[in-house]
Amino acid sequence: MNAPQIETLLHENRRFAPSPEFAAQAVATPELYERAAEDRLGFWAEQARALHWHTKFEQVLDWTNAPFARWFADGRINVAYNCLDRHVLAGHGDRVALHWEGEPGDSRSITYAELTAEVKRAANLLTALGIRQGDRVAIYLPMIPEAVIAMLAVARIGAVHSVVFGGFSSDSLRSRIEDAQAKLVITADGGYRKGSVFPLKPAVDTALARGGESVKRVLVVKRGGNEIDWTEGRDLWWHEELAQVDADHEAKGFEAENPLFILYTSGTTGKPKGILHTSGGYLTQASFTHRAVFDLHPETDVFWCTADIGWVTGHSYVVYGPLANGATQVMYEGTPDTPHPGRWWEIIEKYKVSILYTAPTAIRSFMKIGREHPQRFDLSSLRVLGSVGEPINPEAWIWYRDIIGGGKTPVVDTWWQTETGAIMISALPGITEAKPGSAQTPIPGIAIDVLDDNGKHVGNGNGGLLVATEPWPAMLRGIWGDPERFIETYWEKFDFEGTPQRRMYFAGDGARLDEDGDIWLLGRVDDVMNVSGHRLSTAEIESALVSHPIVAEAAVVGASDETTGQAVVAFVILRAKQSEAQTNDEAAALLRAHVAEQIGAIARPKKVYIVTELPKTRSGKIMRRLLQDVAEGREVGDTTTLADTSVMSVITATVH
Ligand code: WT7
Repeated sequence: MNAPQIETLLHENRRFAPSPEFAAQAVATPELYERAAEDRLGFWAEQARALHWHTKFEQVLDWTNAPFARWFADGRINVAYNCLDRHVLAGHGDRVALHWEGEPGDSRSITYAELTAEVKRAANLLTALGIRQGDRVAIYLPMIPEAVIAMLAVARIGAVHSVVFGGFSSDSLRSRIEDAQAKLVITADGGYRKGSVFPLKPAVDTALARGGESVKRVLVVKRGGNEIDWTEGRDLWWHEELAQVDADHEAKGFEAENPLFILYTSGTTGKPKGILHTSGGYLTQASFTHRAVFDLHPETDVFWCTADIGWVTGHSYVVYGPLANGATQVMYEGTPDTPHPGRWWEIIEKYKVSILYTAPTAIRSFMKIGREHPQRFDLSSLRVLGSVGEPINPEAWIWYRDIIGGGKTPVVDTWWQTETGAIMISALPGITEAKPGSAQTPIPGIAIDVLDDNGKHVGNGNGGLLVATEPWPAMLRGIWGDPERFIETYWEKFDFEGTPQRRMYFAGDGARLDEDGDIWLLGRVDDVMNVSGHRLSTAEIESALVSHPIVAEAAVVGASDETTGQAVVAFVILRAKQSEAQTNDEAAALLRAHVAEQIGAIARPKKVYIVTELPKTRSGKIMRRLLQDVAEGREVGDTTTLADTSVMSVITATVH
């Protein structure tokens, strides 16, 4: 985040106390904090016992092999059973689990009994296809009910899903399939986006033509109706196969530490990290936070988290948290502006959504197009609003509360990461006096601190680095296939006390404590960008750029952007032009398209500047900080460590 934004944050003095009516009915009570403070592990054990255990646990945390944690390790649990059968057996089979809305306007409401039945069949199908406990299944699907069914079916048989966001390229899909050695891919012919069908199956075909030898079968859900190629002996229609398997399936318990999913996220190097999550601890924290942070009353609330299942938010707050809690929720396939700019608000009115969880980038784009769109719809059902993915600027926070929440709803700004698995820092509605722009307080049972580079607590009024000082139930259990990288990335920065157990988790975010000790997130401190709440690595985009034959060198920075938080800006030195006649603009357009094709549209640079030099230190390290100054239109900072101090004036002249 740049300096002016930090300034605005520091002068934000508005406060929003919970209303007495809200507080009186709130799920979360101040006793939760007291209980967790007096006995943190006991507190988490109590939360875990709210789930169904096939075999009860005695052990809570095993941290002897730190930083590889084991939670509730002697217990056995079935994650899918907790999200399905349990609610049916408790008499809630007729409750709607999913109100699904397709982009073209088709819709389906699926009860817990129906969802359970579908997952049972899908579990039998996976077993029939040879999938066993521990096997990896890649899921590359649009936002359709089958995505949820597929994830739960994989979980039900103790296998491991790796969901790949449908917007990722075939190459990104292939590298994820290969890293996880997936045996099966579940995809669709296509899905709807922005008014037309976008094909998915062709990307799977390309990925598997270029590699991914571990994949034996491809299950294809029919959704887009688009024409697709078919590989006999490998490809199978989801609906045809499901019709042939048994309807009944008994869920058995797996060890609490049985892997549940791998989800790839960007790090500081070009290679995405496969973040590994396991079962019992993950489900405990996902479900607890979903209840407490969103004040969930499952009998009456309608919850809507707008995230795609391809991101961790979709895992924890579309699938596992809400379903473990027996919630009724909305799932929407398409984009917010299709077929009209009020689509989200129309959906909220239609299903009487009471809890909405979305990202600041979405809120800012709604602010831009104007309040008249939400104001055409009845949003009075809303009673809690949540935000996630990046710092929410106070203006967007206020707009969200006033225009969407009718000036009365609590707004919770939730900080967490793919790695943390579930919410870590957030106000609790009904308890916390909210401060727009601040995530505020660690949730009960979570230990967070802001430290300086030497591991010293910074004290109120100061900034530093955000750390988790104690292990937590939903924490990542590692990076798939790379224990060294796991330790280096997260556990070596704050390793001062000499014992592995006292290492602290370094999140990669900067943060500041205000005078009350509340936490204000200040953005990433590493080479990771945050574009529309999605994580992108500068190194990954740089390597996509240099993979193009016309590129000699590339440097990528995240430049602050009014709508998307940050935008990808690339500085590129060309090796040669494709032809004498090619202009810099044409080369830039070509490279933007190339990145989109290599990684996915979300990584497409907003700007590509063709330059003749990059700012480097004497040891050859690119100084991205200076490029960021240029990209954000600021005066260029200290250039004294550059090998050639004149470089920046050349670049600035090229850009402006
Ligand atoms: C990074 C994690 C967790 C779900 C979505 C993103 C940033 C996330 C907030 C927030 C400020 C936030 C951080 C974090 N971030 N939520 N409420 N306030 N920053 O998951 O892709 O793993 O990204 O997103 O920088 O490290 P992710």
